[in-house]
Amino acid sequence: MTGTSLSPHDLIGLARAGWRHGATHCVACDGYHQVWGSLRAAGLNAGLASDEQGLAPQIAAALSPGAHVLVAGAADPALLDLVVRTASGMPLSILVADLCRTPLAVIDELEPYAETDVLTEQLDLTRLDHVARWDLILSHLMIAHVPAGDRVEVLKRLRRALAPGGRLILVARTVGEAARDEAADDEAAWVDRTLARLASRGVPTPGAPGEFDALLRVYAAHRTDRLWDLATPEAIAGLLTAGGFEVVEFARLARADREPGADGKARYVFVAR
Ligand SMILES: C[S@@+](CC[C@H](N)C(=O)[O-])C[C@H]1O[C@@H](n2cnc3c(N)ncnc32)[C@H](O)[C@@H]1O
Repeated sequence: MTGTSLSPHDLIGLARAGWRHGATHCVACDGYHQVWGSLRAAGLNAGLASDEQGLAPQIAAALSPGAHVLVAGAADPALLDLVVRTASGMPLSILVADLCRTPLAVIDELEPYAETDVLTEQLDLTRLDHVARWDLILSHLMIAHVPAGDRVEVLKRLRRALAPGGRLILVARTVGEAARDEAADDEAAWVDRTLARLASRGVPTPGAPGEFDALLRVYAAHRTDRLWDLATPEAIAGLLTAGGFEVVEFARLARADREPGADGKARYVFVAR
């Protein structure tokens, strides 16, 4: 983190930075990191905000002074910032890792945290080669982005990267087939609805006129790729076990904005060792 003056709570500033860095750094992201910040600023994507309350106690229980923490996959600084706030002054070393340089470049622009050393590293978790290094590994909705055939490999590598006594806190979601089909059918309507919501919530879209809309269409076309293909928390627990983890506990994250419905959409937090 080189540190400029970007606040992790300046959602419009983060959106602008993501748009700018994405133009240089995104390679095969299908618009994801460039539009992410604006969607987040409008409360329209799968961000961390609604999970904070459920996650913070789990994070607090896993932290100790001087702990080494790996954030495994980060589209924005939210998880990093939640860890720092939860630690409330406890010194920590945090590495934020992602496949794409864009969110890391945004994090590098944040104003430095007083008690926390933050590094960023562009890395592919399917090739993570750390051994017994991290007291806490955090992953929020990352695993759905990894192709199904690589997920166990990523989990095996995260397991190997855990220090003795360390913990993985992983948030993943379930979604039923009906929701996938509905999302695929709904693509054009979703783009129109999203642009209308950005406008009504006063979130400016970055770039030259029409540029954001065009990229949002690309993003929308790949939206269902990123939907989870497991229907139950037991299936996610099974993946963790296949990756060599022992699941210590798991719980559904209550969301103020949504009740679990027939579409099977829900988020779960798993604590594993
Ligand atoms: C849904 S986003 C995470 C959003 C989440 N709310 C957060 O905490 O930032 C998933 C992130 O995982 C990253 N990712 C996907 N596959 C990866 C891999 N093989 N190695 C590292 N990062 C990966 C993507 O680039 C993306 O930024």
